Amino acid sequence: MSDSEIIRLNDISKHYGTGDILVKALKNAELMMKKGEVALLMGPSGAGKTTLLSVMGLLLHPTSGEIIFNDKIYNRKTRQKIMTETRRNSIGFIFQAFNLVESLNVIQNVEIMYKIGKLEKKGYKKKCKEILEMLQMGHRLKHASKDLSGGERQRVAIARALINEPMLIMADEPTGNLDSENGRIIGEYFRKIANERGTTILIATHDERLKFCADRIIHMEDGEILK
Ligand SMILES: Nc1ncnc2c1ncn2[C@@H]1O[C@H](COP(=O)(O)OP(=O)(O)O)[C@@H](O)[C@H]1O
Ligand SMILES: [Mg+2]
Repeated sequence: MSDSEIIRLNDISKHYGTGDILVKALKNAELMMKKGEVALLMGPSGAGKTTLLSVMGLLLHPTSGEIIFNDKIYNRKTRQKIMTETRRNSIGFIFQAFNLVESLNVIQNVEIMYKIGKLEKKGYKKKCKEILEMLQMGHRLKHASKDLSGGERQRVAIARALINEPMLIMADEPTGNLDSENGRIIGEYFRKIANERGTTILIATHDERLKFCADRIIHMEDGEILK
């Protein structure tokens, strides 16, 4: 593995179901990303983008092939416990399905991330506040999560994914609910942490406006990464 490489997919396939309902969602995918790289993942609905992010982010086991992340190998036989540990310590997700905890307010939703990661506890409340302010949620810190708009929820979800300073971020349509001003803020923040911390970020999106923050665009169609 070269110095700047952080993740590599070797011949990754992912199938759902069996027999008549077998879906080949990923077909022999090959991909390498470097530290500090931001890439957009584009392609039609059903192309396999969410599946790619899930397998690459160790949420789902691949059916075949291997993922080399941070010098360690993960494949269909890797124990769930190891996948979970790696995710908690090193990977941030911005997924639509990653819901907020409705019983907690905005800042509490970000603070709970500290309980599950291996973070420096000192000064974390200040850090949570700062990240929410950066995402222009400073006026909503004590707001009940259930009363937020779609765009506000999305920004809290982004704060949660970023607060642990993961080395890899998988974002699935992160600007889907946001107006262009907020979309730009998110894109700028992705670029900033990629440059400053070397965070690697893969963003599945239809949003052409995010191109400004990306080093590269990866196109997918019908389960394949196009060359
Ligand atoms: N849990 C699942 N079970 C069965 N099929 C699935 C599942 N998730 C996704 N698929 C199928 O896999 C293919 C790729 O889906 P997905 O990764 O969600 O694509 P995209 O995010 O690009 O829209 C689609 O045909 C979809 O219907
Ligand atoms: Mg999707």
